Amino acid sequence: MHRTLSDLDLPLHTERLELRPGRSEDAARVWPWYRLPEIQEWTTTLNRSLEDHQQWWDAGASSTMVGLLDGEIVASGKVAVQDAWSQAEMVEQARNRQAEIGWVLHPAVHGQGLGTEFAAALLRIAFETLGVRRVEAACFAENLASRRVMEKIGMRLEGVFREESLHRSGRWLDGMSYAMLAHEHPAGHGAPHAD
Ligand SMILES: CC(C)(COP(=O)(O)OP(=O)(O)OC[C@H]1O[C@@H](n2cnc3c(N)ncnc32)[C@H](O)[C@@H]1OP(=O)(O)O)[C@@H](O)C(=O)NCCC(=O)NCCS
Repeated sequence: MHRTLSDLDLPLHTERLELRPGRSEDAARVWPWYRLPEIQEWTTTLNRSLEDHQQWWDAGASSTMVGLLDGEIVASGKVAVQDAWSQAEMVEQARNRQAEIGWVLHPAVHGQGLGTEFAAALLRIAFETLGVRRVEAACFAENLASRRVMEKIGMRLEGVFREESLHRSGRWLDGMSYAMLAHEHPAGHGAPHAD
C-alpha cells in the first residue's frame, strides 16, 4: 500500500522547525516572500499573481510540506513520490519507489542552517514515512546554496548535465542531479520526531 504525507505522525519537529503537510490556506501565507526575486530566480514556476500561486499550490498539495518557526511558515518544500524507470513488465514493481525532494526558505532566515535542517527532514520523511528506496533532488549548477544543502544532507552528486536547462533569463544552464538510497541514509540525521 502506497503511503502518503497524511500518514505522518504529527506534530513533527526538527531542532528548530515544526513540520506539517501544506494546506490550501498556506498559499497566501507564503506568497509575500515566495514571490520575491531571490526566490523566483531558481524556482520552476513563476506565478505573477496570488490567484495563480494559489492554483499552483493547490495542484501540488499532496506532496507539499511546510516548516514553521515560531508559528510562521519559513520553509516550503515537496516530497513527491514517483515511479522509478523500469522495463515494461516491471512497471508495477517500480511504482511509487522513489521521491523527488525540493525546498524554498524565507529569505529572512537564509544562512542559519534552516534550509539544511528542513531538507534533512524531507529526506527522512521520504525514506521513513513514505518508504521509498531512492530520493533525488536537482538544481541549476549556479544555485550554490541549494547544491550545498544537498551535499550537507549527504546526497551524492550523480550527474552534471551540460546546458540542459533553460533559465527564464534565456540562458542555457548546467543542471545537477543528486540522490541517496534508503540504505545510505544516516539514521537520526536531522531527524524530525513526533511529540
Ligand atoms: C537554497 C536555500 C533553501 C538554502 O537555505 P538556507 O537556509 O540559507 O541554507 P543553510 O543556511 O542551511 O545553508 C546551506 C549552505 O549553503 C551555503 N550558501 C548559502 N548561500 C550561498 C551562496 N549564495 N553561495 C554559496 N553557498 C551558499 C551556506 O553557507 C551553507 O553552507 P555551509 O554550512 O557550508 O556554510 C535558500 O537559499 C533558498 O530558499 N533559495 C531560493 C530557492 C531555491 O533555490 N530553492 C532550491 C531550488 S533547487
